[in-house]
Amino acid sequence: MIKRIFKITARVIAGLLLLLALTYLYLAYSLDTRIQKAYAVEPRIMEFTADDALLARGRHLYTIKGCEDCHGPDLSGKIMLDDPAVGLIAGSNITYGEGGLPADYTSKDWVRALRHGLNKESKPLLVMPSQELYKMSDEDISALIAFCMSQPPVNKEVPPVQLRPLGTVLSALDQIPLLAAEAIDHTYQAPAAVEALPNASFGKYLAVSCSGCHNSNFKGGEAKVPGMKPYPDITASGNVGRWTEEQFIQTLRTGKTPEGKQMKNEEMPWQMTKAYTDTELKALYAFLNDQ
Ligand code: HEC
Ligand code: HEC
Repeated sequence: MIKRIFKITARVIAGLLLLLALTYLYLAYSLDTRIQKAYAVEPRIMEFTADDALLARGRHLYTIKGCEDCHGPDLSGKIMLDDPAVGLIAGSNITYGEGGLPADYTSKDWVRALRHGLNKESKPLLVMPSQELYKMSDEDISALIAFCMSQPPVNKEVPPVQLRPLGTVLSALDQIPLLAAEAIDHTYQAPAAVEALPNASFGKYLAVSCSGCHNSNFKGGEAKVPGMKPYPDITASGNVGRWTEEQFIQTLRTGKTPEGKQMKNEEMPWQMTKAYTDTELKALYAFLNDQ
């Protein structure tokens, strides 16, 4: 009798393990199909003259759009996460040095990456957050590309993004944003330029960079990766609604809130928001207080 129960239990466990393995294989396979999908998009070619003003604007955008967090200050890339369960996530070397972009990576390829989240083969880039970049104006995209292409080559090999079992499962179930290409409206027609004024409409344009964490309605929510802090509401219904414009600017420049909380840059990237101009921060304040 006991032997029989043992036998049945062993079979049930074996069955469950098999089911688990099959589910995993199915998830890994379906994710791989999405990663291997070639998109039929024709990036719009940008004409620009890389003068000093455009390059300076590009450098500013490289900082305030957070490129530095993943690709490093010299664009040579860096490992951001190497976790045995989740995987290895590294921003690639986007200079023209060894281990970086090929010599024939043209401005059209840059547009394909930034506006469509796709690589030279028109397949999805992993982790690269183009869903927060593709609505940038032609002028801003041009400035960013002009700046990046003008940077000195750095010879550095950076390992490619590699998902491990937990990362694969979370990505396959869309719990972590992996494929920007799927979240982008590939037919979107960006404005030629956006005027930098301290008003809500410019604020809305800038706030796309906050939406990945604070949610698309900026009301915050649970953390995407288990164990991380929840994201606060940064609209009028949260603390921001009680702060003066000056206090808001102070918070985004120092990481310290009027309530006395010192935020960590790894949680709230204030080293990035510190680089925003006064006009940009005023615009963000105006927009967020309207929400
Ligand atoms: C959250 C991290 C992250 C941020 C922020 C980020 N990138 Fe990336 N980027 C990546 C990763 C990872 C890759 C490599 C993706 C791959 O090879 O699948 C990549 C790839 C690229 C590529 C190479 C595309 C190709 O065809 O190989 C370019 C160009 C690029 N990023 C530019 C930028 C610029 C400019 C910014 C800022 C506006 C930026 N990235 C912000 C993570 C990031
Ligand atoms: C990588 C994720 C991330 C991004 C991007 C991000 N934030 Fe945050 N932010 C956080 C987290 C996490 C906290 C909470 C930190 C804490 O409690 O210490 C926070 C806190 C804040 C606070 C303080 C809120 C309060 O009630 O104390 C403000 C204001 C804020 N963020 C504004 C912004 C703005 C504006 C942007 C875009 C320009 C932005 N954040 C982009 C993650 C992010």
